[in-house]
Amino acid sequence: MKLIKAWTGDLDRAYELFGKFQADEHGFVNDAYGLSRDEFAQYMRKVEDMHAGRNLPEGYVPATKYILVNDSGDYVGIFNLRHRLNDRLREGAGHIGYGIAPECRGRGYATAGLRMILVTALAEYGIKEAYLSVNKDNPASLAVQRHLGARIDHDNDTEYFTRIRIAEPDAMPEPCRDPGKDGACG
Ligand SMILES: CC(C)(COP(=O)(O)OP(=O)(O)OC[C@H]1O[C@@H](n2cnc3c(N)ncnc32)[C@H](O)[C@@H]1OP(=O)(O)O)[C@@H](O)C(=O)NCCC(=O)NCCS
Repeated sequence: MKLIKAWTGDLDRAYELFGKFQADEHGFVNDAYGLSRDEFAQYMRKVEDMHAGRNLPEGYVPATKYILVNDSGDYVGIFNLRHRLNDRLREGAGHIGYGIAPECRGRGYATAGLRMILVTALAEYGIKEAYLSVNKDNPASLAVQRHLGARIDHDNDTEYFTRIRIAEPDAMPEPCRDPGKDGACG
């Protein structure tokens, strides 16, 4: 299993993957929702710009979108890593967002992908404590974060705001399931 930068992948397969997500599912926002294939190609250029910190919209920080590719080569999920926080992110979405293709859920992909993104966050951006948030009506996502050692820092009516201390890869919790052994999704 691996994470690839979204714009470096196969554009048609990326388009198909992004097309599987709603505009907003439990706070996982899909900016590519409803785009045509041509619009998606343009969108991917913006995703690359966002990674490089080019042409950032007001209030945005550099961020990298990754596609999670399983051991069969299927595109199974999307992970977004914000390189640093600003006030809005600190009190909101935090560093990391993720979604797994509906037909691939419940096999440990989000847990395995989150582990990889945490390792990347420390190695590439020096993030030692990741800030995340999760809707209170999304116990699966909270379970994913807890597998990686998340604690709830505080909450409001609708969300938990969680923190994960990131250790060197050897000291990070190992996912208890290996989705690679489950084969293809569907
Ligand atoms: C949340 C989401 C990312 C989980 O992806 P996934 O690949 O199915 O996650 P995993 O298989 O790694 O782990 C899911 C865990 O939640 C648990 N879970 C699932 N449904 C649950 C429920 N209703 N109550 C409690 N735990 C639940 C599973 O048992 C599993 O834990 P386990 O490994 O101990 O068995 C996926 O459902 C998704 O993409 N949802 C839409 C977008 C979203 O909500 N993103 C997160 C925003 S914070």
